[in-house]
Amino acid sequence: MNKFTRRDCLKLLGLGTAAVAAGTSPLTAQNSNVAPRETPAEKADRERRLAWWKQAKFGMFIHWGVYSVLGRHEWVMEMEGIPAQEYEKLAAQFKPKPNAARDWARLAKQTGQKYMVMTTKHHEGFCNFATQTTNYCAPKQGPGRDLVREYVDAARAEGLRVGFYYSLMDWHHPDGSRCAEDEAARRRFVDYIHTHIRELMTNYGKIDILWYDVAWPLDAKGWESEKMNDMVYKLQPDIIVNNRNKLNGDFSTPEQRIEAAEGDRAWESCMTLNDSWGYQKADDGWKTPKQVVRNLITCARDGGNYLLNIGPTADGSIPTETVDIFNEVGEWTANNGESIYGTDKCQPTRSRNGNFTRKGNTLYFHVHYYPGTSVAFAGLMTKALSARLLNGGEKVDFTQDAYSINFTGLPPTAPDHPVTTIAIECESVPTQDNIFVRKRGRGHV
Ligand code: GLC
Repeated sequence: MNKFTRRDCLKLLGLGTAAVAAGTSPLTAQNSNVAPRETPAEKADRERRLAWWKQAKFGMFIHWGVYSVLGRHEWVMEMEGIPAQEYEKLAAQFKPKPNAARDWARLAKQTGQKYMVMTTKHHEGFCNFATQTTNYCAPKQGPGRDLVREYVDAARAEGLRVGFYYSLMDWHHPDGSRCAEDEAARRRFVDYIHTHIRELMTNYGKIDILWYDVAWPLDAKGWESEKMNDMVYKLQPDIIVNNRNKLNGDFSTPEQRIEAAEGDRAWESCMTLNDSWGYQKADDGWKTPKQVVRNLITCARDGGNYLLNIGPTADGSIPTETVDIFNEVGEWTANNGESIYGTDKCQPTRSRNGNFTRKGNTLYFHVHYYPGTSVAFAGLMTKALSARLLNGGEKVDFTQDAYSINFTGLPPTAPDHPVTTIAIECESVPTQDNIFVRKRGRGHV
């Protein structure tokens, strides 16, 4: 039998041996962002800038651009190999209705989302904003106006914080790929990108979030990412910046999955509502309102945020399925917001009927599989003082012993939809021992 060694595997992956010799994992070495040492003052400033966002928990992502005209996902240009000269003609057909963003902002507000992040330029290279750098931008093409301006005004009108998504990768700019091999091309392209960021950070008032995306094909040095972030912080001293320009930035961005960052680091899980970010008219893989609410709960439980996407059509309309799902989620957040916004990281996680969030000494038990009349969970190590249904405030009776807490006298059918939340006031910060029952063998002591 042939022995397939780790070294062979690395060779196949084309990762060379330097990292092996250095004793580091090459995959980590290749993918990791530069982690600069941080002074206490820098840490304190980051906490200050992140404070509102950590309370906010729930945001709306918006993917909108020329790809919305085709309705076949925002990667359509690359995925179908459409030449740039052909693709760019679609920009003349991108004719959104006036102020479409007002409907997005109203929907976000109703859904309980506290901030919005809109694509100002996606990988296709089309700028939804007014720029001096190219004619391939909304005011000079089909839309005939600055779509980012409308978006910013709409978000602010609803009292929502404003975020800009910006793709560094650019399939339209002629230097967008050759910048990796050609220094003159890199110089031109990086100047082009930095100019966009300067325009975005200068022309729209206070911006709360800058959400970089896809840094292919350069590294942090090539993008001049340190300089980029320095400029951003200088122009927007209160802004937070994500980690997708090959620097750590202020927060991590797990995509299509919920995964807490290590330690105290801030994180936000971004997710599609069906399987696509940009409008994909045939995509019927919608999440249910229950899945969305459960995801929001899990993010809040683990101390993170949930950025949930909409993909408007080319005229700016929101797909009706999206509106219906968001409306149901909005009803839930309206009645259960106390258990989401401003919550703390929650240690208890274990139940087959529900999930948990926490604020101070209050534990929220989110029952998504409602058994009827009574529901229990094991291993709560803190004494419960009282319990109530979060929606409506009705008192819930319970019994508690060393092993479990059992809520009784509940209605036979779930009193709230899609998740019923029981708020439990505890004597101190609630904790759970996941194997308390197993260790002690109930019935044997
Ligand atoms: C990915 C995709 C992109 C999408 C983004 C959102 O990086 O390339 O299309 O905008 O995820 O996180």
